[in-house]
Amino acid sequence: MSTDLSPIDKAKYAAARRASEMVEDGMRVGLGTGSTAAWLVRCLGERVRDEGLRFRAVPTSTRTAELAREVGIEVVSLGDAGWLELTIDGADEFDADLSLIKGGGGALLHEKIVATASDQMVVIADAAKEVDTLGRFPLPVEVIGFGWQATQALIEEALASLDVDGRDTKLRMDGDAPYTTDEGNRILDLQLGRIGDPRQMALVLNQIPGVVENGLFIDICDRVMIGHSDGRVETRD
Ligand code: 5RP
Repeated sequence: MSTDLSPIDKAKYAAARRASEMVEDGMRVGLGTGSTAAWLVRCLGERVRDEGLRFRAVPTSTRTAELAREVGIEVVSLGDAGWLELTIDGADEFDADLSLIKGGGGALLHEKIVATASDQMVVIADAAKEVDTLGRFPLPVEVIGFGWQATQALIEEALASLDVDGRDTKLRMDGDAPYTTDEGNRILDLQLGRIGDPRQMALVLNQIPGVVENGLFIDICDRVMIGHSDGRVETRD
């Protein structure tokens, strides 16, 4: 690890490094997306190179798949793996119930599929991701491109009856073009401020035509490993 890292990257690295030790020979492991997950992939690549660790990985995005291959990790599809012993991923927010907001990196759909096809999901995060109430981070919702404006209007209508502080929704952009997910879909970011009832929010959103998946992960995460810039790692189960 370079000593030039920012405190936040040191914290992400500490959590990723510790979680990488959970991977054992022969395991099938889901690999998340984002900057913290990228540290994990690099740490696992080191173990493959230095210790001869052998495991099969199911990446949650093309970005993660490219990095995993680059560092010598064997990449397989979820279909080929069948089931996973462990998934390790980052998060945008987590609360005391280990409920999460994910999708800041745009990979929430694959991330949720991979996490729910795993015996155990472990989140790696820096301490700034911990919140009392989810919602400060805009909630990503993956929607089909066809008629996304109509889906957006239905989401806004649904938000009117939900316990939130804000109701603005924004189409995620990538420069001048709409951001496109690995499945070719769009993302709407919901600026909610506070989500009073995340479980209800997740159910309501997924019933709206055009919504593919939302970034709330409830009853999915088993453990959060919180990294600190001094190298300490706290674990919440
Ligand atoms: C990607 C995600 C990421 O895990 C989340 O955005 C956290 O990213 P980072 O580790 O870069 O802070 O959900 O879809």
